[in-house]
Amino acid sequence: MSEKVLRPEALRPEVAVVVGTRPGIVMFAPIIAHLRKKAGAHFVIHTGQHYSPNMDAQFFSDLELPTPDYRLEGVSEKPTHGGQTAAMLEGVERVLLERKPRLVLVGGDANTNLAGALAARKLGIRVGHVEAGERSYDWCMPEEHNRRIIDHISEYLFTSSPKAGQQLERESVRGEIIETGNPIVDASRAHLDLALRCFGQPDRRDQDTGRPYAVLTTHREENVDDPGRLRGIFTGAARVAEGLDLTVLCLAHPRTLKRLQEFGLEEWVHSLDRVEIRPGSGYLEFLALLSRAALILTDSGGVQQEACIHRIPCVTLRENTEWVETIETGANRLVGTDPDHILAGASEALHARVDWKVPFGDGHAAERIVDYALRVVGEK
Ligand code: UD1
Ligand code: UDP
Repeated sequence: MSEKVLRPEALRPEVAVVVGTRPGIVMFAPIIAHLRKKAGAHFVIHTGQHYSPNMDAQFFSDLELPTPDYRLEGVSEKPTHGGQTAAMLEGVERVLLERKPRLVLVGGDANTNLAGALAARKLGIRVGHVEAGERSYDWCMPEEHNRRIIDHISEYLFTSSPKAGQQLERESVRGEIIETGNPIVDASRAHLDLALRCFGQPDRRDQDTGRPYAVLTTHREENVDDPGRLRGIFTGAARVAEGLDLTVLCLAHPRTLKRLQEFGLEEWVHSLDRVEIRPGSGYLEFLALLSRAALILTDSGGVQQEACIHRIPCVTLRENTEWVETIETGANRLVGTDPDHILAGASEALHARVDWKVPFGDGHAAERIVDYALRVVGEK
């Protein structure tokens, strides 16, 4: 007889970790490292949401992670949020039915995490959400739907800051709130020296031009799928380069490269003076570039945090952010995609004080999460 819900006594004392996107691999790298160090029984499921070598394999190699135990097939062919989420939900469920772990860990706000959390929830397996309680309050964003749903179906809510815990309390979540800090801090600290040894730029200047440089990343659906906003971002980047005498180096997500081509903007972008665009890099190269940059321009959640962690002033190409602590500390400013606003924000950022306190924990988040998870799976 097939099982719809697993009986608690059928569950095994191990932790399943669900990854599948670039930021998820970074977030879980220190957690997987601690699970291995403590010989905690675990296995890793890769949903296949991200699959290009520079979005996936390079990260496993840079972060010294073993090959995932399971990798779902066919997910990359699904063109819609629903289709992609459904394929990952079915695939994760198959693995969970085979392995019957007592706890599933997901992290962040991508469809991968919603699928992993939902698959576990439906089977009666407990869910732990890393980076719980973050909100942009922007109901147009798929990430906001995912975060809210995951938080409300999780037993354990591992938060990055007091603000996230307060948000979860206001929403009356049923799970336990555990403030751990964000493992992105752990990953950054653990890999910075190696990154700089491999790719370091000692004088914060572009190696080719000798100019200070800004790093640009953009991949948000609401930005890059809209030709007007996408054009605004690159026009803004060109104004920053010219007006502030910087080189702007864009490490482009595959989605962005595809949209530039589809909208007929590729040639134009390549013609922009002092704006260099190339495919996104692996983690170590990116960390080295980010930590030596004069300025960060981004719509990425992880990159906003990393700019704050490394005390590089940041300009966020969105109207809102989950990471309000970065705004409050003066590390970040929200400018949207209007070129004039981007230039004004960048100019202000370049003169910002960079002595803020990093608000996402002390670099020991992964250890706390792993200790907690191993206690949970050790319970009868
Ligand atoms: C997803 C997450 C987003 C996260 C981002 C991190 C959701 C809803 N969105 O967005 O929250 O910030 O990951 O990078 O889950 N593509 C490739 N190769 C890849 C991955 C993607 O070519 O390895 C291209 C494909 O054309 C794909 C498109 O990018 O259709 C979008 O990929 P998808 O995973 O759906 O969303 P992201 O934009 O990556
Ligand atoms: N990143 C990277 N190479 C790049 C761009 C980003 O290694 O070219 C890393 C970055 O250091 C951060 C993570 O990818 O840890 C952020 O992922 P992304 O911006 O795709 O997603 P988000 O954080 O917005 O969900």
